[in-house]
Amino acid sequence: MNASNPSVVLADICQRLDWRTLFGNEQPVELDLGAGDGGFALAYAQQHPEINLLAVERLLGRVRKIEKRTTRGKLTNLKVLRLETAYTVRYLLPPHSISIAHIMFPDPWPKRRHWPRRLMQPDFVRDLAAAIRPGGELRFTTDHAHYFETAQQAVTDAKVLERAPEWDWSTDPKTDFQQTFDAEGRATHRARWIKS
Ligand SMILES: C[S@@+](CC[C@H](N)C(=O)[O-])C[C@H]1O[C@@H](n2cnc3c(N)ncnc32)[C@H](O)[C@@H]1O
Repeated sequence: MNASNPSVVLADICQRLDWRTLFGNEQPVELDLGAGDGGFALAYAQQHPEINLLAVERLLGRVRKIEKRTTRGKLTNLKVLRLETAYTVRYLLPPHSISIAHIMFPDPWPKRRHWPRRLMQPDFVRDLAAAIRPGGELRFTTDHAHYFETAQQAVTDAKVLERAPEWDWSTDPKTDFQQTFDAEGRATHRARWIKS
């Protein structure tokens, strides 16, 4: 791990990340899980120089785009990790260290037989909550009404986070999928939970 490379290179996939080594400072750390092409991550990191943001994405082409745009924008508070989100959350995040985890438009897996593939399951929520610091939060956004229902149920069943009012998202950069769905006139569902 080193502070000048936009990509997180893991020396050991069983060793948890060290934020100070990765970012070179002690700023609060936020996550963008399933970052896509990084439209949100890049704009948000620029908008919030006071935080560090780790974008997690499994598709190589998308990760390469984020790397290039991070380097071009000379952003030192954004890093990208090419890895599976659930593994990252369970095995790589230091406990009680995340201030905000953003999950935006995760793959909805609309067919019933694929629902178990949805990211938001009670075990995942428990793992994520273990990484969130007290007072930190999970922000979830989806265009898919049924996924929104099951995600809320997963958090309720996990019994580790408390529902909170929506955050003020009016100044948040739009994700790439948000822009597409807005253009199609699709509704967006949002929920926020806090770790007490
Ligand atoms: C529907 S896209 C949304 C992208 C972005 N958040 C946005 O709103 O524009 C979902 C993204 O999550 C990534 N993804 C899906 N499952 C993942 C997983 N298990 N681990 C890491 N990334 C994943 C996909 O490759 C894709 O880029």
